[in-house]
This record gives sequence, C-alpha cells and structure tokens, in this order.
Amino acid sequence: MPFRKRYLFVCTNRRPDGHPKGSCAEKGSEDIVPRLKEALAKRGVAKDIVRACATGCLDLCESGIAVLQEPEHVAYGGVTANDVDDIADAAAQGGIVARLVVHGAGVADVPEATEPSAAH
Ligand code: FES
Repeated sequence: MPFRKRYLFVCTNRRPDGHPKGSCAEKGSEDIVPRLKEALAKRGVAKDIVRACATGCLDLCESGIAVLQEPEHVAYGGVTANDVDDIADAAAQGGIVARLVVHGAGVADVPEATEPSAAH
C-alpha cells in the first residue's frame, strides 16, 4: 500500500468511566474511524491519497473528539458523525474544514517550527 499524501488521525483513546479528563472514545470516536474510511473510499481516495487511522491520545482531550490532519498539521475538535463527509471532502482535495479547527492554521497556539541551531 502506498504512503499517502494525507493522514487523518482519529483519537480513540478510552479512559475509565468517570475519569475527570473524559476521552474521545467515550464521546464516540471509535465510530468515526470506520465512517471516515468509508467516506474516503466513496471518494476514491482511500487507497492512495488519504488514510484515516485510529490513534492514541492527542492531548487535546478537552476538544474531543479530536482528529489530527497531516501534513496540514491542523487539529479538529468536537468532531461528530455529521462532520465526516466535510472532513473527507476537504482532505480529498487538500483542504481543511475551518469550522472544526481548534489548533493550527493560524487558529491557536501552535509554535512555528524552528530550524536546529547551527551553533556547536
Ligand atoms: S482522549 Fe482524545 S485527545 Fe485525549
């Protein structure tokens, strides 16, 4: 299988019931992964352009359900099943869903990447 141009990492971390931080799985993220895969497949981009993957905690728990899109390096928050088609459409075309962005794309506090110092 080819290395994709784009990845959608869906947090499926689950914490014990009653944990104060909650978790994306508790909010239904395990259902988002297959829905995204199906949506990408319907658009004909699943096999070579965009892959949706389950991942562990993205440390965006307060914004869950959290989805990280790379290489755009944007995090979506509060994702629901109703957002799956918009996410798939945007990812298939190399775009983002601005209304869902909670970090990155100039929305929040992502530090700019810095080059390693040349000093020894
Ligand atoms: S539990 Fe999903 S980002 Fe932490």
